[in-house]
Amino acid sequence: MVKSPSEQSLSAEQQQVKEELLLILDRGAATMRQVVLAYAAARTWQRDVSWLALQAGKEYGAVVMHARRCLGATPHGSSAELRKSLQDALEEAEHYEAYLELLTWRLEGKPCPIADMYEYCPPKAYALLGYGDYRRTHERWPHNYACFTERAALCEASSAWGAALIRACGEGGAVSWHWAQSRIPVSDEFSRRLVEIERRIAADELHHGPETIHALMRDLPSREEFDALRERIKRVRILEIWQRNEQYLKPLSDEAMRALEADFYGERIAPATVFRAAAL
Ligand SMILES: [Fe+2]
Ligand SMILES: [Fe+2]
Repeated sequence: MVKSPSEQSLSAEQQQVKEELLLILDRGAATMRQVVLAYAAARTWQRDVSWLALQAGKEYGAVVMHARRCLGATPHGSSAELRKSLQDALEEAEHYEAYLELLTWRLEGKPCPIADMYEYCPPKAYALLGYGDYRRTHERWPHNYACFTERAALCEASSAWGAALIRACGEGGAVSWHWAQSRIPVSDEFSRRLVEIERRIAADELHHGPETIHALMRDLPSREEFDALRERIKRVRILEIWQRNEQYLKPLSDEAMRALEADFYGERIAPATVFRAAAL
């Protein structure tokens, strides 16, 4: 395990809690891999185009949100905050561009069938883009809707520290998905290109949330507070796993997803080595 130089500054309890958290995220990554492998085994033009268009829409939403954060940073005069927002916005723009390029290639000149792809974004971006009431997306993408709204509700029900930790495991937790896609079996030009894109994105996303985990551990209020959060953090991982399956047009049935969820909660899935291997 690669350790960050500042890791020594954690107390034994803080270090223990951090390891427990990274283990949850790594088990989540291994669970996510099952969904990605199910997609890889059931790939069709429709599925490739569906998830790609939706992901491009989501990355665009992320560009808008991080760019908005730039405006929020300036009145406080924090150049560090502004630099981070600019950097994040730029990275999301690169992700958007990469997915869009692959989508265009995969469309083979046909029009994109997902006309509303830009509505597949977080609630904040949805509002910034002027789409109106986010509830409109519920019927179209119920699991994507649940992923964002339930996570927000869990943050709301938690302390400020707890909410920050849930958020760190939210967008940052998506590293699991990018990591799993970067290891998709290469069978054609599409998967070859995809692996290349995902390696880059997974590295970027490690800095869109997980980089705050170490500092959050230094501020750990108590072990009890983390224990109370544990189920919420697991829930956030499971919500994204359902959301990705939906994004792929459900290569796994609801029944198979429920079984996968039970295996995750029952700790029957061996954790991957993603988050514990990163210098967080
Ligand atoms: Fe991104
Ligand atoms: Fe991101």
